Amino acid sequence: NRVVLAYSGGLDTSVILKWLQQNYGCEVVTFTADLGQGEELEPARAKAELMGVRPEHIFIDDLREEFVRDFVFPMMRANALYEGLYLLGTSIARPLIAKRQIEIARQVGADAVSHGATGKGNDQVRFELGYYALQPDIRVIAPWREWDLTSRSKLIEFAEAHQIPIPRDKRGEAPFSTDANLLHTSSEGLVLEDPWAEVPDYVFSRTVNPEDAPDQPQLVTVAFERGDAVAVDGEALSPAALLARLNDLGRAHGIGRLDLVENRFVGMKSRGMYETPGGTILHAAHRAIEQLTLDRGAAHLKDELAPRYAELIYNGFWYSPEREMLQAAIDHSQEKVDGEVRLKLYKGGVHVVGRRSANSLYSEKVVTFEDDAGAYDQRDAAGFIKLNALRLRLLGRRDASGDEP
Ligand code: ARG
Ligand code: SIN
Repeated sequence: NRVVLAYSGGLDTSVILKWLQQNYGCEVVTFTADLGQGEELEPARAKAELMGVRPEHIFIDDLREEFVRDFVFPMMRANALYEGLYLLGTSIARPLIAKRQIEIARQVGADAVSHGATGKGNDQVRFELGYYALQPDIRVIAPWREWDLTSRSKLIEFAEAHQIPIPRDKRGEAPFSTDANLLHTSSEGLVLEDPWAEVPDYVFSRTVNPEDAPDQPQLVTVAFERGDAVAVDGEALSPAALLARLNDLGRAHGIGRLDLVENRFVGMKSRGMYETPGGTILHAAHRAIEQLTLDRGAAHLKDELAPRYAELIYNGFWYSPEREMLQAAIDHSQEKVDGEVRLKLYKGGVHVVGRRSANSLYSEKVVTFEDDAGAYDQRDAAGFIKLNALRLRLLGRRDASGDEP
């Protein structure tokens, strides 16, 4: 039997690889996804080969465009934020990894899949709900829930006993756990576990400290078509290239840092630090273009749905009928969401300073405080207010007099 392991090439998943070979006596197939985490992936191949994985069973796939086009952008259309703040950078990557793992399992005839998420977190749920949705009879092996390597030192001991190379920075206590892709880097655990203690500077990896960001603000223009960003400063870019460009701009200006205590699906609270530079700019820009192009009713309904949608993504229900229903409604709302947004980046802040659209619902003629040449009849407002006030007046009369209204 064969198992497809989501393999990062790091210490934990290398130990898992060896552990699977030993404890399940199965042939391990590795899958390493390039989601724009900014790491060399070829070392993962070398390590897998070293541990006896057959070369044709080592999969390293560049999924950056698919990740941004089919996962990040649909989520951005929804303006999804978990608990009002988190842009879901880790949550949105898991369904794609799960999907590709299942495809590979089919391709190589594997009957099981495995991942390196712990039994305490959200990621195990996201991976496994994805697996089961796409391959109902798949067997899942989650070593962190099974083995007795319950501490970092036991993990290192196991690695040493099996000639698994250990990165120098993992020899001591690793100071925190991270997950990175084109959308964000997250850090949790260890030095971050005290929610009162400020996140140390060395935890940040993809934004400058806003205090050290340039004293000059920078203007950037983002263009949208049907709710998706398509160009930056007039240059058309593919989804992944566009997000990478915004990441560069966000990095330089210290944008998108978030220190958050959140509620995990399994029930506990955890404290994390996120850096989502480009995603933070994109979120602000998308909201701004919707200001012009979405009708109030559609916009307000969308704002009600967004937290529900975000919770589904956070809890791992990407492949669910309710997420797809919401997505269909959200995508429908984006048909006229075209135009450009100008933003100013300055010392950690993103400030919208302008927006325009050929599909704008904004009518200067109607809204102007100057002479509107009959575009709007102010006398209409009297009846509008009077009927809206009717029930308030009935209530007011009753409660003031105690009489029949
Ligand atoms: N708390 C975040 C989430 O649930 C980030 C999880 C980070 N994962 C990790 N392997 N460090 O989406
Ligand atoms: C993990 O537990 O593997 C990472 C954190 C999480 O999934 O929430």
